[in-house]
Amino acid sequence: MKIAYYHASKFGNGAAVAKEFERAMTAKGVAVDVHHIREADPRALPAADLYVFSSPGRMGRPLGRARRFLQHVELPAGTRYALLTTEGAPQPDKKTGEMRTAEEIARWQKVRPIMTELLDAKGMTKVAEGCVYVTGMKGPLEDGWQAKVDTFVDTLATASAP
Ligand SMILES: Cc1cc2nc3c(=O)[nH]c(=O)nc-3n(C[C@H](O)[C@H](O)[C@H](O)COP(=O)(O)O)c2cc1C
Repeated sequence: MKIAYYHASKFGNGAAVAKEFERAMTAKGVAVDVHHIREADPRALPAADLYVFSSPGRMGRPLGRARRFLQHVELPAGTRYALLTTEGAPQPDKKTGEMRTAEEIARWQKVRPIMTELLDAKGMTKVAEGCVYVTGMKGPLEDGWQAKVDTFVDTLATASAP
């Protein structure tokens, strides 16, 4: 099995997540090719059994460059993909000090829904999605982020087993 991983990291957190993904997947005997999206032509992606796409969040959406990349991806219908984003950790409401509910967060945080919409529109099949939080606008990654990536790798490896 071969995995192609495309990320749009600006401050390096998403690149670190990609590196950990590659390390953990390689340990399972699965080859991973990691690229920044600026190094790749979305209309001519090399063949792979699974594509992983990763973007940071911007104003509740994926980074513009990542959105455009996904819009231009040309892969056959049925191609399997996974999402592993980096997003700002949920913060308590500034007025009440209470944590927002999942529904409240989902009202403005649409990073993965937008990525999903763009790829599903091409008939591609999502097999998993995950997110690693950053604790400040530009990082660092949340405590225990490596374990979170490793769990995602385990899930993906199980889901992709023949
Ligand atoms: C101007 C700006 C806006 C941001 N808006 C969001 C957002 O709406 N949702 C979110 O989850 N993260 C947001 N973030 C935080 C990014 O998710 C964070 O910078 C990114 O995950 C870091 O990844 P990178 O180091 O790979 O670029 C924002 C960051 C900046 C600088």
